[in-house]
Amino acid sequence: MKALIILFILAAFDSYTVSTAREAIEQIEMLCMFETNVTESELRKFLTNGIKASEANLKLKCMMKCMMEKQGMFNNGVYNATRAIQEMTSLPEMKGREDDIKKSVNGCKTEKGVNECDTAFKITMCLLEFKSRKHSS
Ligand SMILES: *[C@@H]1O[C@H](CO)[C@@H](O)[C@H](O)[C@H]1NC(C)=O
Ligand SMILES: *[C@@H]1O[C@H](CO)[C@@H](O)[C@H](O)[C@H]1NC(C)=O
Repeated sequence: MKALIILFILAAFDSYTVSTAREAIEQIEMLCMFETNVTESELRKFLTNGIKASEANLKLKCMMKCMMEKQGMFNNGVYNATRAIQEMTSLPEMKGREDDIKKSVNGCKTEKGVNECDTAFKITMCLLEFKSRKHSS
């Protein structure tokens, strides 16, 4: 399971192998899987199917919201970009990537879904896409 876990937000910056951040986020991830009733097989299926938005069910989207809430980035349905930038740039591993982080968060913060879970999910997907755009250019 551990090897399959994608640390969604950090993954956007290739830093999910970093142990300190990884452990903290894995804990949040476990807690949120439990709270939203996402099963290991559902998460596994989503990850192995290439992380496509069309493959995500509502529970999975709510798991993203749960994770953002626990990191203080999402409150009452509103994404806090300031906090998200703070959280991400506070990690020592993110040193030197502050500009990338700000650009992607600011580029993704206005994503809106049909409900709060969908909004959190769209923002997450946007951050991941930002990474692939950057790598392909
Ligand atoms: C998760 O499952 C439990 C037990 O079936 C249920 O009581 C709870 O409401 C569910 N939570 C969500 C978020 O679906
Ligand atoms: C967003 O986060 C910042 C930094 O943690 C905090 O100062 C601010 O009050 C938050 N804004 C909202 C609307 O919660």
